[in-house]
Amino acid sequence: MHLAFRPAALTAPQPLCYHCPGSSSVSVSEQDIPGIALIGCGGMAAHYRDSYTSIPGTAYRLVVDADAALARSVAKQLAVPRSSADWRDALAPDIRIADISTPNHLHAEQATALLAAGKHVLLQKPMAPTVPECTQIVEAARASRVTAGVYMSDLEDPLVWDLREMVRGGHLGAISSVRGRYAHRGGLRAQPAVTNWRGSAEKTGGGSFIQLSLHHTNLLSWILGERIASVMAYSANRMCPNIGGDDTTAAVCEFAGGAPGVFESAWNADGTLLEIFGSEGRVRVFGGQGSAAEVVVGRPFTTGRVVRAEEPGKVVRVPACGDLRAHCRRDNPLNQHVAFVEAVLAGREPQVTAETGRYDVAVAKAVYASAEQGRRIAITEMLA
Ligand SMILES: NC(=O)c1ccc[n+]([C@@H]2O[C@H](COP(=O)([O-])OP(=O)(O)OC[C@H]3O[C@@H](n4cnc5c(N)ncnc54)[C@H](O)[C@@H]3O)[C@@H](O)[C@H]2O)c1
Repeated sequence: MHLAFRPAALTAPQPLCYHCPGSSSVSVSEQDIPGIALIGCGGMAAHYRDSYTSIPGTAYRLVVDADAALARSVAKQLAVPRSSADWRDALAPDIRIADISTPNHLHAEQATALLAAGKHVLLQKPMAPTVPECTQIVEAARASRVTAGVYMSDLEDPLVWDLREMVRGGHLGAISSVRGRYAHRGGLRAQPAVTNWRGSAEKTGGGSFIQLSLHHTNLLSWILGERIASVMAYSANRMCPNIGGDDTTAAVCEFAGGAPGVFESAWNADGTLLEIFGSEGRVRVFGGQGSAAEVVVGRPFTTGRVVRAEEPGKVVRVPACGDLRAHCRRDNPLNQHVAFVEAVLAGREPQVTAETGRYDVAVAKAVYASAEQGRRIAITEMLA
């Protein structure tokens, strides 16, 4: 199972469970309310940093950014009492949950220290630039019996939950193959590596594939309920001198159940697309998160959040439903930052576990290794 790992063990320190019967009769001081810290509040976090305001049973206590003025102004704007330029301030006893949204190469050091101190940690993707660093994070969470998870933004899109239900319910028949192209021209505008961490392959862990296609390898594995077992790939940097690593990659992957998946990434051309082909139906999503889609089912699908396909064989057009920025909003019932906090409070496994985050990085690393060595690589080789 893609997301199966182990039940999240909530022990050190034990957060209060506001969902448990009897919790309300316990008198709690302000200090006992689980505090949340956001580490890295610019860039991607600018889209979702208000997610942690007013989550029942928690207190948003600290905003950190290496840019002290930014941290101060975000804290003021969101009425968060403390700000800092030093992530170690999140080791304070009143912080129980930390969201790390710093550049990839900082994730392992920050996450392992916080997990070792008993904090639950949510990381932005990719979990870390290398598999050994991911393993370090997984093991730190295990040793402290706390929860580590990875934020995958696509899961905030209601469409993908419908696709998963359609695939799992057999509405497309048997899955023949899948395709995911994740691409935009951001690499053509990239700044030199001295000012841009994406200009270093060491800092990102690769280039366009680990930054972009990791979304699709994770998503399609989640939809299919199968991990990628092996990969064969081509990878190069052809147009983006300020991007470290690849700006174009194409990989053919084999899922555990035998279906092939074709994944492409590019920092040098637009054109994001996701497709699922089944023996009785097909799906095409015309872009990234929240994009319009076209669906043909073999069996009626009427229980979706945004898809309603009553007639087998008929092309159904699904209108676009927001984008990354809209989906990140606090009021989206699928908000994955809120979902992580709620999972921690309830003692549930997070939607995307650290073990899955590690596997996703192993897939990206296998793609790079395959392109370099000119052979098919099993993901197990990368995890050994
Ligand atoms: N759709 C998505 O899910 C998505 C999109 C973009 C980025 N990301 C991921 O989010 C993470 C951050 O990427 P970004 O685009 O926001 O990068 P960014 O460079 O735009 O922002 C990073 C922020 O972290 C701060 N920072 C840097 N070093 C720090 C430190 N030592 N301590 C505290 N703060 C520090 C920076 O000042 C900046 O505000 C990356 O892992 C990236 O891959 C995810």
